[in-house]
Amino acid sequence: MRIDVITLFPDFIESSTKIGVVGRARERGLIEIATWNPRDFASDNYRSADDRPYGGGPGMVMMIDPLRRALAAIRAANGAGEQDAEARAGAKVIYLSPQGSRLDQAKVAELARRDHLILLSGRYEGVDERFLQHAVAEEISIGDYVLSGGELAAAVLIDAVGRLQEGALNDAESAAQDSFSNGLLDCPHYTRPERDEWGEVPAVLKSGDHAAIRRWRLKQSLGRTWLRRPDLLERLELDKKTRALLVE
Ligand code: ADE
Repeated sequence: MRIDVITLFPDFIESSTKIGVVGRARERGLIEIATWNPRDFASDNYRSADDRPYGGGPGMVMMIDPLRRALAAIRAANGAGEQDAEARAGAKVIYLSPQGSRLDQAKVAELARRDHLILLSGRYEGVDERFLQHAVAEEISIGDYVLSGGELAAAVLIDAVGRLQEGALNDAESAAQDSFSNGLLDCPHYTRPERDEWGEVPAVLKSGDHAAIRRWRLKQSLGRTWLRRPDLLERLELDKKTRALLVE
């Protein structure tokens, strides 16, 4: 997968995607990440990428032109022209903003299947609405709070999508067992020591009975979801295998 990020702070994206699972996925060539600074596409000597808002008010707004040129450079770098019609039209641009639709694991899984994402991280008061109208296909928020810029949100999205790339996680099972992957929260996990002043490891986990362990984990997941996120249970559709486990 390739991810192009338009950002006034390329160092932030570069450094945050160099570590951990995503860093390893980059090293393994599973994800290619490129950053594009609108300032490099400015038309004045000050490398201006933002200007004052029409109508007055605080803050600055990111200008259309540097963004449009950055986008054209991304399209050119991705060799538009040599592929089929759909690919030629190019990857959709995703704008990270608190006004977007809320990112969840289903959306992450959908994005992870695409082979090219173009992310736009906003700063200041936002981006000229005309750029959003003409060049942006989707607006995504990572939660109902306001960050001082879209870079952290882009890094969150890249992390969530990156770890789902085939070969990114060492244990192929661990993505399948994540919270949300079956619509439920994750079960508790334990490691050594078996006995500690803060408690004991549940006996079933030491029983070696794999069916019993799977059942226990599912029950824990269901219980946690019921207690902590009952809203998730409303739209829960357990798959056949999981349902069978419940009645075993
Ligand atoms: N930019 C600022 N706040 C944001 C949020 N909550 N989600 C995505 N992008 C943002």
